[in-house]
Amino acid sequence: MYSKNCSEKNQFKNEDNACWALQNTSNKVNNCGEKLHFFFGKITFTSVLNTLLWYNLCIRLSFGKDVDTMLLRKKSKSEKPSTSFDKEPLLKGQVPRHIAIILDGNGRWAQHQGKPRIFGHQEGMFNVEHIAEVGSCLGIEAMTLYAFSTENWKRTADEVAFLMKLPVRFFDRFAPTLMRLNIKTEVMGNKSELPEELQDAISRIEMMTAKNTGMKLMIALNYGSQDEIIGMVKAIANRVAKGELLVEQINSETIDAHLLTDGLPPVDLLIRTSGEQRISNFLLWQIAYAELYFTDTAWPDFKEDALYEAIAEFQRRDRRFGDVKK
Ligand code: FPP
Repeated sequence: MYSKNCSEKNQFKNEDNACWALQNTSNKVNNCGEKLHFFFGKITFTSVLNTLLWYNLCIRLSFGKDVDTMLLRKKSKSEKPSTSFDKEPLLKGQVPRHIAIILDGNGRWAQHQGKPRIFGHQEGMFNVEHIAEVGSCLGIEAMTLYAFSTENWKRTADEVAFLMKLPVRFFDRFAPTLMRLNIKTEVMGNKSELPEELQDAISRIEMMTAKNTGMKLMIALNYGSQDEIIGMVKAIANRVAKGELLVEQINSETIDAHLLTDGLPPVDLLIRTSGEQRISNFLLWQIAYAELYFTDTAWPDFKEDALYEAIAEFQRRDRRFGDVKK
């Protein structure tokens, strides 16, 4: 069940890459330290190191609304997700082909810690990378993540500006992971209304990953299912008006083919984090037979064990698709 695109190192051990990189760096720093010690003695090197640590701390404390500065943050070892979940039974069962997730609870997660809402969005963004990696290693074919809805423009100008800037930095940071895992990424939604630098970042990541053949990662940005359905109806109506299609020929495949999820497997499992139990204009057509899974866990805390638990619950469901049990 493990994806062949996941090296042994990445398969569920999920040794946090950033941690691993930091350890490497720290080994290099130590080696370098030994050399410096030879020339300047221990006190000089320690004070240089302390200065660097304080500088780092000052940056963290003063991040304010500056996305670039915030993204200097590295994951610490303590953030390494626990992997206590017994995955063997999970991997013997059927893993959902397509998982859709409503990434909810970032703001409340941050506020509960006395931090600004945008801090929650930043953590939520890091978690996108983590869950995409776990999903890819599980052999999930498609993952669709609801990152910004057509209704989210109602938020304060500051929060919207932050959310528009976040993916610009995130996509560049995320690119090596996507390439290593052979993940193909696309953004769905009304892209023409997004800021130009975000549109450019989207084009870059889509082009870079276009030939990847592993998991398909769809990020819904400025997405609303009702808008998508209106677009689909208009496109089909146009084809009928041009005589390319007869009204009698319209069936569910015609509709699938005119939606932004064209070509993806049907959504098997829809997850919403953070306690709310509603769909919020997400994939209304596509979730017709999806299993719905609601969890109180906020998105930034929804780590790999939480995903395994959701999949285990999916495997316990009796999916009859309108049929009766034979
Ligand atoms: C909902 O939580 C979350 C959002 C509106 C933004 C989600 C965005 C990310 C996780 C960043 C990921 C970015 C990309 C490009 C994948 P909320 O803020 O509404 O939480 P609340 O209900 O607690 O207020």
